[in-house]
Amino acid sequence: MSTISIKTPAEIEGMRLAGRLGSEVLDYITPFVKVGVTTGELDRLCHDYMVNVQGTIPAPLNYCPSGYTPYPKSICTSVNDVICHGIPGDKVLKDGDSVNLDITVIKNGFHGDNSRMFLVGKPSILARRLSEVTYECMWLGIAKVRPGAHLGDIGHVIQQHAEKNGYSVVREFCGHGIGTVFHEEPQVLHYGRPGTLERLEAGMIFTIEPMINVGSREIKEMNDGWTIKTKDKKWSAQWEHTVLVTETGYEVLTLSSGSPPPPAFITAPSQPVAA
Ligand code: MF3
Ligand code: CO
Ligand code: CO
Repeated sequence: MSTISIKTPAEIEGMRLAGRLGSEVLDYITPFVKVGVTTGELDRLCHDYMVNVQGTIPAPLNYCPSGYTPYPKSICTSVNDVICHGIPGDKVLKDGDSVNLDITVIKNGFHGDNSRMFLVGKPSILARRLSEVTYECMWLGIAKVRPGAHLGDIGHVIQQHAEKNGYSVVREFCGHGIGTVFHEEPQVLHYGRPGTLERLEAGMIFTIEPMINVGSREIKEMNDGWTIKTKDKKWSAQWEHTVLVTETGYEVLTLSSGSPPPPAFITAPSQPVAA
């Protein structure tokens, strides 16, 4: 039995606003993500922007799922071989680093959750390609979203694209339903088989946030209780959007003027060409 909530029109409106604001934090912070900045400074800037400019609440701050210690900062900053949940601090970004900034805002009780990769200074070919393939993985998953599709369709297309490129998919963390609760049903696995798991219905809202590794998919937990790294120390990338299932397909809620465009293969069917 499915217990995935179907959002009401009013809830969907609330999620549209939270999603846009979440994306606008990433727009705001983009010019600050440069060689020499610390992850702690990025956290402070985002925190102040959310609280003082947007009037949003940073959802990560003091977030405490069972079995965890309270998360101590307002954003996640995951650099190079950090897969996810990197805690901002005195780490200085250097030329060639690759960092994921994961932002979740709460506005009027609704959560907007999204992340982007930033390549600092002059990125290596490897870092560029890893980020690009991971972005394609996310969008291939998004493009599967429509009523009647299965969650397994999303996982399958992500896994296929990652592995075709020689990369691996992290299994321990996944996308998630989201609304007035940060993490709710369903779990959105980034691997799987077509036609398996729950059927999607209009009004469902969940994130798609593949974590893709250059090397093996194995993870290592750090002693801070949060930071997750690759076991083999090879790099990892992640992109995240919050997505609504609509009557005809999907609507990405975490978009704003600074969102990178979807990959070319996502382009809507074009107008018929005049004869
Ligand atoms: N934003 C993350 C996600 O995409 C969750 C971070 S939990 C935190 O699900 F406490 F580390 F912030
Ligand atoms: Co998320
Ligand atoms: Co997130």
